[in-house]
Amino acid sequence: MNLNTSLIMAIVLALLHLSFPLLYYLYLRGEWLGKPWDLRRDPSYRPKVTIVVPTYNEAGLIKRKLGNIASQDYPRELMEVIVVDSASTDDTPRIVREWMESHRDFKVILVVEGVRRGKAFALNNALRFASGNIIVVTDADSLWISRDTLANALSWFSDSRVAAVTCLKTPTGEGFAGVEKGYRDFYNIVRIGESKKHSTPIFHGELAAFRKDLLMRLGGFPTDIGADDSHTATLIALKGYRAIAVDNTACVELVPTKGYHMWRIRRAQHLVQHFTKTLKLLPKAPREFKPILLAETWLHLFNPWLLPAATTILLYKALTGTATAIALLIAGVALLLLKPYRTWIATQIYLIAASIRNLRTKEIAWGKQEKANQ
Ligand code: GDD
Ligand code: MN
Repeated sequence: MNLNTSLIMAIVLALLHLSFPLLYYLYLRGEWLGKPWDLRRDPSYRPKVTIVVPTYNEAGLIKRKLGNIASQDYPRELMEVIVVDSASTDDTPRIVREWMESHRDFKVILVVEGVRRGKAFALNNALRFASGNIIVVTDADSLWISRDTLANALSWFSDSRVAAVTCLKTPTGEGFAGVEKGYRDFYNIVRIGESKKHSTPIFHGELAAFRKDLLMRLGGFPTDIGADDSHTATLIALKGYRAIAVDNTACVELVPTKGYHMWRIRRAQHLVQHFTKTLKLLPKAPREFKPILLAETWLHLFNPWLLPAATTILLYKALTGTATAIALLIAGVALLLLKPYRTWIATQIYLIAASIRNLRTKEIAWGKQEKANQ
């Protein structure tokens, strides 16, 4: 290969890497974001709901979480909470019991597992006690921003085509929250765009709601991969139902103050596992959902690798004295001054690290990160 072809190849790879996500984002924003929902939502719809909170060592946050759920403006007789704890080594179960004592008007069931087998396993355990028609899973380290969050989210189920609903995320916390925010602005638009077109294959642990009958037909949550919420939502969309992120609900997640990079890598690992598992189902996807699933699969499994490929070629050329390669590398590094670009590159590095790390560990029962307000 002569000098020119390899340089051109590096440029093409880099342009493909950057332009695909940008075009996908612009397409969703331009074509779908402003469109009205093609769903019939009855804002007064109030189904019976079971809210499941999985916990592993959440003594510092569980009280606040239960208080947040209890403050929702939703008919008490139509809601119940199941806290499912997996062998916490802290006081989580005791704190839950105390909270239950002081809130007798509120139905809470505590399920305590003797052995920790992971979040999805615990969720399936909780399902055995659930009497609601809708199951809402919500992480202990998250909060629902307004008193209407639950009612707003569940109202979408009034349309029988909708079988899964998730919230939009607003990051809070210290330190890395700024980086998180840059990432969320971009992704929330993608989530809504995908949902208006058909469904989004990425759900959030802060609020992930599912029709219980469908969930049971799927055999509960998958226990062999980490992204139980996203995977379940995708299986539901593959069946032709809608799995949507909705713009009238917002959730907060606490961003770790320590171990941020490991947290991002582990979550990326879960998404890589999820998209790898749906690869073989792609041909069966409904017409409107197929391009979405294809794009997200490309973005999570393949697109990130174009970046090291292009960089390697440029580095090689730079080291062998090609001035254009040196200039391109300097330009690539200089662009890091721009925050959106920096955030993007960081995300790519997390995804690449995740794919490599997945070869060694799946992180089904993961370690805890330290968070603010804990
Ligand atoms: N019962 C039980 N058993 N709960 C667990 C276990 C377990 O083995 N492991 C974690 N949890 C609980 C935590 O206590 C928390 O309430 C919730 O599951 C999420 O755990 P985090 O440690 O906060 O995970 P995360 O925020 O990094 O990841 C979340 O979001 C990801 C992407 O949105 C999780 O929901 C992931 O499953 C999801 O992939
Ligand atoms: Mn979390």
